[in-house]
Amino acid sequence: MTTILAIESSCDDTSAAVCRDGEILSNLVASQKIHELYGGVVPELASRAHMQNIVPVVDVALKKANVQLGEIDAIAFTQAPGLIGSLLVGAQFAKSLAMSTGKPLISVHHMQAHVLANLIDEHRPSFPFLCLTVSGGHTQIVLCESPYKMKVIGETIDDAAGEAFDKSAKLLGLPYPGGPLIDKYAKEGNPQRFTFPEPNIPGLNFSFSGLKTSILYFLQGEKKKNPDFIEENLLDICASIQARIVSILLKKLQNAAKETGIKDICIAGGVSANSGLRNGLTELGTRMGWKTFIPKFEYCTDNAGMIAITAYYKYLQNDFADMTIGPTARAEW
Ligand code: KG4
Ligand code: ZN
Repeated sequence: MTTILAIESSCDDTSAAVCRDGEILSNLVASQKIHELYGGVVPELASRAHMQNIVPVVDVALKKANVQLGEIDAIAFTQAPGLIGSLLVGAQFAKSLAMSTGKPLISVHHMQAHVLANLIDEHRPSFPFLCLTVSGGHTQIVLCESPYKMKVIGETIDDAAGEAFDKSAKLLGLPYPGGPLIDKYAKEGNPQRFTFPEPNIPGLNFSFSGLKTSILYFLQGEKKKNPDFIEENLLDICASIQARIVSILLKKLQNAAKETGIKDICIAGGVSANSGLRNGLTELGTRMGWKTFIPKFEYCTDNAGMIAITAYYKYLQNDFADMTIGPTARAEW
């Protein structure tokens, strides 16, 4: 029996999870509301909040799993990528706990963990599979040959999909993070009401900065004619923006599936919580004869459950980290 305690603190969520033989027994997330006041994550405030939250979050994760610290076989943490101050809190906590309990340490790559969140559920993809990982900082198409062999075959050349949602929301006067709000309003709007341009980027890469600029100019123009344009048309604007972001993402995913011949297709990361993307993937999958996989909502946005499952596979390979390891803000695969 292998029991792992995992900690995730790469951005503005403090999370701890306990996993036993690949099954997640608990997955606690403390979100930091403070950033809403500033329209984005303030790194220094995030680090401080992690320091306040980490002990109670780990404590409750162990209690919910009904596991004593002595029963843990390894301690895992997010090593990269992320905000350096945020990562440091999780890394130092995990290392201190590993040292004081004498348990081995496992370092986990945050983006690989988002991909492997698809292995948490019993309904899981077979290898090789493709994963569209869409978060606040990344947009990638990953070819996953095994839990240990993954390759990024396409990625954004500028903004991430989550940023496209959040920045569009900001232009509409919505609070941070705007992605979930655009999703909420889009459900009641007409996605065909406004048409935003599709970028023409070669290969499997993405670009979202042009879309952001076109939305800005569109809103400026309309507001000149009618100062209440946004308020009066919010639902349709949100639905139209979401439809374009989703169509950009799914088009490249479709190209990747065609190029690789792979039919097990997953999505992951915070934006995979988006209902337009989830429905779009399911519909496209049915048309293309794919098997599609979407992590449960709680494993889409940042969470330690995905760190725990990744660490479990590393444990099986005896892939442990040295106590001298530190976090890094950016990391190659
Ligand atoms: O993976 P994640 O929790 O954190 C990062 O690693 O970045 O992703 C956060 C991103 C934010 O940009 C947020 O707006 C977006 O995911 N997001 C959504 C939805 N839920 C979260 N975007 C669109 N629709 C949603 N329902
Ligand atoms: Zn993430």
